[in-house]
Amino acid sequence: MPSVDLNNKVAIVTGAAQGMGRAIAEMLSAKGAQVAVVDTDENKAISVAERIKGVAITADVSKSEDVNNMIKIVMERFGNVDILVNNAGIVRTSRIENIDYDEWKLVLDVNLNGVFLCTKAVLGIMNAQQFGRIVNISSSAGRSVSTLGGAHYTTSKAGVLGFTRAVAKEVAPFGITVNAICPGLIDTEMVHQHCSPEQTQAYLNSFPIPRLGTPEEVAQLVCFLVSEAAYITGASIDINGGDLMI
Ligand SMILES: NC(=O)c1ccc[n+]([C@@H]2O[C@H](COP(=O)([O-])OP(=O)(O)OC[C@H]3O[C@@H](n4cnc5c(N)ncnc54)[C@H](O)[C@@H]3O)[C@@H](O)[C@H]2O)c1
Repeated sequence: MPSVDLNNKVAIVTGAAQGMGRAIAEMLSAKGAQVAVVDTDENKAISVAERIKGVAITADVSKSEDVNNMIKIVMERFGNVDILVNNAGIVRTSRIENIDYDEWKLVLDVNLNGVFLCTKAVLGIMNAQQFGRIVNISSSAGRSVSTLGGAHYTTSKAGVLGFTRAVAKEVAPFGITVNAICPGLIDTEMVHQHCSPEQTQAYLNSFPIPRLGTPEEVAQLVCFLVSEAAYITGASIDINGGDLMI
């Protein structure tokens, strides 16, 4: 990748206290961006933000008042938003017969409605400056069916892909690109929590590249999309070791 320079860019990364979000926040910062580390986990967000000299913001992306407050803090601190990475997400593994309406709404609220709320919150700012880069972390689940998650998870991630395309088309005239990344199994807490080592190994054995992806590999793709990739928009980009080829 050509050397990426994100000096003078301001980035918001949701779900950045651990896992992929943390790797994305760290890499954007290493490339020069000023980063808002947004998460519901206040302590972990603070420790990431301290390390990268960013700002920690405690916010639940599914709550509009939290999202409004997040934007207020970012504008007060940095005066701008150039990059939004909608990464915050949760997984629930219940099969359809065990998904009650509350659990359904929880997963859709965080994984899909959170993407809507955060995107809406930054579009006016990006529109005014005629520049913006939005990257939505979907999943292979959005392209096919989730390995770990239930129907709500797959539905939410498929919804993110549709949202990405629809918004990308509308905002392209304003210099804003909107893309989705579809990771396969990535080595994070989410996988460790919901997948036994034996189950993980069985999945890996079936992958053309038989290992977990790393959060840093996803972060590199985000860096590319927010810097070099001015002609890519509305895309859903797979990063899954060849697990899914469609
Ligand atoms: N790990 C994988 O294999 C994998 C694969 C495909 C897609 N994804 C997606 O990638 C994203 C990151 O996943 P990860 O594996 O790093 O997960 P993770 O569980 O390790 O980290 C997720 C982070 O999001 C935060 N978060 C959860 N709900 C939130 C909310 N409502 N508001 C703000 N922050 C919230 C958590 O506190 C946590 O810090 C998620 O959207 C996930 O669905 C993960």
